[in-house]
Order: sequence, then structure tokens, then C-alpha cells
Amino acid sequence: MSGPSRILGVNQMSTLSVRVTAVAKAALDVRQLQLALPDGAPLPAYEPGSHIDVHLGPSLVRQYSLCGECGDLSTYTIAVKREANSRGGSRAVHESLSVGTELKISRPRNNFPMAADAEHSLLLAGGIGITPLISMARALQAGGRSFELAAFSRSLDHLAFRADLETGKLAPSSRIHHGLSRDDTEAALRAHLSARRENAHIYLCGPAPFMATGQALARALGWPEEAIHIEHFAPASAPATGADEWFEVRLSRTGVVIPVAPAQTIVDAMRARGMDVETSCEQGVCGTCITSVLSGEPDHRDCFLTAREHAKGDCMAICVSRSRSPLLVLDL
Ligand code: FES
Repeated sequence: MSGPSRILGVNQMSTLSVRVTAVAKAALDVRQLQLALPDGAPLPAYEPGSHIDVHLGPSLVRQYSLCGECGDLSTYTIAVKREANSRGGSRAVHESLSVGTELKISRPRNNFPMAADAEHSLLLAGGIGITPLISMARALQAGGRSFELAAFSRSLDHLAFRADLETGKLAPSSRIHHGLSRDDTEAALRAHLSARRENAHIYLCGPAPFMATGQALARALGWPEEAIHIEHFAPASAPATGADEWFEVRLSRTGVVIPVAPAQTIVDAMRARGMDVETSCEQGVCGTCITSVLSGEPDHRDCFLTAREHAKGDCMAICVSRSRSPLLVLDL
């Protein structure tokens, strides 16, 4: 039998076939979709903060947070913003999907888990970053837990789930900020973060500058690192490439050694050898390609792993990260 050998990342997932059962406008430039199994059976359970991979076309897979009530497994709800510089994902969701469209999705996975023992949760959402946080807010409210959701948006028309936050069940615990300047956004974030409570945790999701500001303020105001949780939708910064050098990767299970050129990623180099590597975002954001490192020193370029995981160095995102040592041995 010929064809590429199959090497999967640690997060390999089977797919589900679902159908779009409802489409709605969640806000200006934000489309909300409901997905269900064709036979109406319950979907797999998920935790707040979870996302699914949505297969939108050949080599077009995107991650979207689940925004509904975790207890309602009749449908999954996602909300997708139309991006001006779409690489194809948001355009496909906005232009190609309608009620009845069949799609492949992954089972839910959670890269943004909540601290089970938090006595208070502060959810800080910038723009479409509301999507993982609203499912957290719904779960916290359903469990009678203490929380505050602060949603920042360009205008009220740009605010997804506006009705839930303004007049719905979440309104008493929600604060909406809209049309703020950069300085006013920072001042509002500072005000939220200054009211620190014992054993409270922060969850931040939104555009990179919003998250960088929130994270820096939280640290400056004395929040412990383990109480600050962030979810990236896009790489925080472009990976450095200028001074990159050759290195080699040895795949421990077969002993195959693969040279990686300065302009190549490990994934590219493996594919060039006919290997099929499971990836999704290929930007170091989603975690699909995270691979165990058995020896060598990774040069981390992703924003999925935490600073602590980077320092530990026993796993890496092979879609973007490189090597500081001449040889990396990977558990593949
Ligand atoms: S494929 Fe998403 S982090 Fe590598």
C-alpha cells in the first residue's frame, strides 16, 4: 500500500457530522450558528470555555468557542465574526453556510478550563472574545457562583449576545463598555482588576492588545500568575524568522532524522518527506500539533502553551516552534 504515513498530534480527535439547524445575526458582522446531529441525538458534553474545530473546506479548519448552555446538548452554538483579512474561515462561515448545510466538527476540547475552586471569577471580554466567556458566565450563574462579566465592544451594535448581557439572565452580573478609547479601555480594565477578591480568578479573551493590557495590569496589580487565564484567537506576535538556522528532528518511534531548513517549520519538513501530520491553525494557537519532546531545547513560537510549559520544554507546537539545539528528539 502506498501513500503518506499518518502521524498524529497528541490531540488527535475523531470528527462528528452535524447539520446547521439555525443561523442568526448575533451582532454587526457576527453570525451565530446552531449545529446538531442529524438524528437529533445529544451531542458530546463539554465544559465552559471549550471549542470545536469546524471543517469548512479542504485544508480549511477553524476553531470556534461553544457559546451555549453547557447543559443543553441538543445543539452547539458558535458565533463567528467576519474578519476583514479573513484567511478563508470567517468568509466561509458568513457566505457559504446556511440552514441544512452538513459539516464535520471535532469533539469539544477545552484549552481554557476554569479553576474549580475559584471563589469569584472576573471574565474580561474584548469584542468577539465574548464567545468562550459567555459559556463560562452561563455555567457560573447556573451553579450559583460569584462572577462578573465585563464586555468591551466598539459599539452596542457590535456586541454579540447583547440581549443576554443587557436585559437577560446575565444582566445583573454584566457590565458593558462600548466605544471606549484605548486609554479609557485601560482605565476600565484597571478598575475591574483593582477590585481583587480572595481566591478570585481572571479569564481574558479578545484581541491581542486587549489581552496584553489586561495581563500586564493584572500582574502589576498583584494578581498571582496562576489566577490569570487567557485564550488567544490569533498569534500574539509574528514568529521571528530572520535569524533562523538549520536543525534536525529525530522521530523516536522510527529513528528517522529530518533536517529542518531556516524557512521551514517542522510540520513542513515532515510533510516534505511524505508524512501526514495532524494540524489545525498552523499558527501556534490551537494546540492540535502539540508534541512531546524527549530531548533537545525547543525554541517556542506559539501562544498556546503557558510560560511555565515553555520553560519546562517537554512539549512544543511543531507548526511554528523551532529548536535552540542542533537536534530535537520528538515522541513521534
Ligand atoms: S496546529 Fe494549531 S498550534 Fe499547531
